[in-house]
Amino acid sequence: MTATTAASPGGVYNDKVVRQFAIMTVVWGIVGFLVGVIIAAQLAWPELNFGIEYLTYSRLRPLHTNAVIFAFGGSALFATAYYVVQRTCQTSLFAPALASFTFWGWQAVIVLAAITLPLGITSGKEYAELEWPIDLLIAVVWVAFAIVFFGTIGTRKVRHIYVANWFYGAFIIAVAMLHIVNSAAIPVSFWKSYSAYAGVQDAMVQWWYGHNAVGFFLTAGFLGMMYYFIPKQAERPVYSYRLSIVHFWALIFTYMWAGPHHLHYTALPDWAQSLGMVFSLILLAPSWGGMINGIMTLSGAWHKLRDDPILRFLIVSLSFYGMSTFEGPMMSIKTVNALSHYTDWTIGHVHSGALGWVGLVTMGSMYYLIPRLFGQTKMYSVKAIELHFWISTIGIVLYIAAMWIAGVMQGLMWRAVNPDGSLTYTFVESVKATYPFYVIRLLGGLLYLGGMFVMAWNVWKTVAQGKATPVAIPAPAHA
Ligand code: HEM
Ligand code: HEM
Repeated sequence: MTATTAASPGGVYNDKVVRQFAIMTVVWGIVGFLVGVIIAAQLAWPELNFGIEYLTYSRLRPLHTNAVIFAFGGSALFATAYYVVQRTCQTSLFAPALASFTFWGWQAVIVLAAITLPLGITSGKEYAELEWPIDLLIAVVWVAFAIVFFGTIGTRKVRHIYVANWFYGAFIIAVAMLHIVNSAAIPVSFWKSYSAYAGVQDAMVQWWYGHNAVGFFLTAGFLGMMYYFIPKQAERPVYSYRLSIVHFWALIFTYMWAGPHHLHYTALPDWAQSLGMVFSLILLAPSWGGMINGIMTLSGAWHKLRDDPILRFLIVSLSFYGMSTFEGPMMSIKTVNALSHYTDWTIGHVHSGALGWVGLVTMGSMYYLIPRLFGQTKMYSVKAIELHFWISTIGIVLYIAAMWIAGVMQGLMWRAVNPDGSLTYTFVESVKATYPFYVIRLLGGLLYLGGMFVMAWNVWKTVAQGKATPVAIPAPAHA
């Protein structure tokens, strides 16, 4: 990294928007996790809504999912996509004014979500709850994002397009398509609309969207992060470039078909459910191919894990990615889903992907990125990174183990029958039996949130002692 002044013949990178998104990743992480902790506490002690309608579980739950996925995850994806595309294309961002617009536009979407969801304004579609005026703003911001990203690729100074950009590019295109198709709606007033689809078609479009939100928002973009930041932090080339290309095409082709596994045993035609199951099982292969490619990038340098907590964040995130992408295909098998569906097992699966994979890979990447964005080589306190790593990992284990046990227990209790054919347990008995696990989950969530506070302090200190120094674009390399 070269700090420069005006004497940079190749110009400087546009890091302002990267800095803005990186800082907001930390801020929204705290907000999103905090709301997660509140709803986790409400599940254990329902009175914690204090009888206030804006604080009811049903309104805070979508606030949590939107905050963690789109505000925390989204800001991390914007920050890293803008950083990585500039570094790997050795050029500054295309259309800088539009890039700045994506920052303010995206923050506006988040603030609107934070206002409308507690007010109970919702389209009722999971992960797509925001009402149509906000959906239109999302579409505009996303098109601007695509113009900046692909414009930068188009004006690159190196011939080759590094694989991380393929993943970011697929994420941007797929999310645009998913959002526009799934959000098609007929407005009946400024804050109320109805889906353009009806009945089972609506459900299928919704879960085509929902599953690909996992595949492209929560996975493809973060794989872009993995392909850039793991080799950088490990100071080694990616294990197999050829595998990364196979990984890319196999993953994006397969994800698109797996959505129906969310609709097992519903009115969706049986063949469509089976198709979703088969593609989900196939999905194990590209997912694990990618995980192996990331982890094996460390081959010959495993010792680095011992004293580099950033690398530990990144590699452990991949272990959770491997776990959740093994578990997902298993849960897509109809007979397994008959047990897991509607139970906390699904919540355990979600959070092993969300806290373990999405959360940890983001934190590791931010620890690499933030000091460099402020003219430093490392974070203010490496010890604090270490502490963050351990408390968040323990938090995740508590969260997901509690949910797995609770989920399997619920599934078994609900299906247990007496010899005379009557149910062995009432529903409320299963709720009572779940209580201790909800308390353990809350504890795990508190640890995870605590880790984020440690990160925020460390980021604050790093930014305070650093300076937003422009970085010169090196002379074009020959690919
Ligand atoms: C401190 C951390 C967190 C806590 C305590 C927490 C807690 C919760 C709780 C209590 C629920 C509702 C579960 C239910 O309906 O039974 C939930 C749902 C959810 N959370 Fe979190 N969460 C946290 C972090 C995250 C993160 C980082 C992400 C994503 C990156 C995430 C994604 C989700 C999703 C997608 C759902 C909906 C799951 C579904 O509908 O099946 N959470 N969370
Ligand atoms: C090979 C990869 C994966 C497959 C085949 C898969 C499969 C599944 C299945 C079968 C369900 C349960 C559906 C139900 O019973 O309702 C599910 C739920 C879910 N999974 Fe995965 N999963 C995979 C990876 C992941 C990852 C990596 C994440 C997060 C980063 C994730 C996030 C979710 C979420 C958020 C839900 C809950 C959706 C909802 O009902 O609201 N999945 N997944």
